[in-house]
Amino acid sequence: MAESYILTGDEVKDWESLMFLYNSAIKEIMTKIEILKDEFEYTHHYNPIEHVTSRLKTPQSIVRKLKKQGYETDIASMHRYLNDIAGVRIVCSFTSDIYRIADMIGSQSDIKTLLIKNYIASPKPNGYKSYHMIVTVPVFLSDRVVETKVEIQIRTIAQDFWASLEHKIYYKMEGNCPEEIKQELTRCAEMVSVLDDRMLSLNEAIRQLSEEETVS
Ligand code: GTP
Ligand code: MG
Repeated sequence: MAESYILTGDEVKDWESLMFLYNSAIKEIMTKIEILKDEFEYTHHYNPIEHVTSRLKTPQSIVRKLKKQGYETDIASMHRYLNDIAGVRIVCSFTSDIYRIADMIGSQSDIKTLLIKNYIASPKPNGYKSYHMIVTVPVFLSDRVVETKVEIQIRTIAQDFWASLEHKIYYKMEGNCPEEIKQELTRCAEMVSVLDDRMLSLNEAIRQLSEEETVS
């Protein structure tokens, strides 16, 4: 088998082949998640994953981010500096599922975790909660294997609901969101946390009841 391989600056010239690589990395991760989900359902009769989405960063968004961070807007720097060209979002039912899923992904022998940002344990000041992993996954080409970066975001349905609304408002207001709307969004994030905790407790109670039923 070809040796595992990181692209060097000189080799990263061609936009299309790079996007092909990131798209392949998304497919690899999506397949892994699908298998984990099937296995989990088979062994535990429970599906922790509500849905999974993926996206390739658009050229406009790639250029905007590189400029903002003060980098050259060429293909080599996009490959070197951006971690989220390939993005996968896993939406799960309960907060306890988040760590379970993250562990299942991180412990796969061909996945390398480069960075974790745990906004569940340390939410952003605006209330944003989500678990982010930057990983590399090997993409098997005909003559070599390329370790390719993917950003994985894991969050509950309630957290996802909040994040998509906050994202829409942020864009609509082009960053000039009135203070009272910001504060209300942060209060909503607190309500989301309370809701997630209560749903988790409810689920635990239901699980215990059904275990007792099985025993008796
Ligand atoms: P970006 O430059 O936005 O990619 O952020 P980053 O490189 O500092 O990484 P971070 O882990 O903070 O954020 C990665 C991604 O998480 C973002 O691109 C968004 O998709 C999402 N995200 C982070 N913070 C927020 C937030 O406050 N609100 C919402 N709605 N999404 C967020
Ligand atoms: Mg991003």
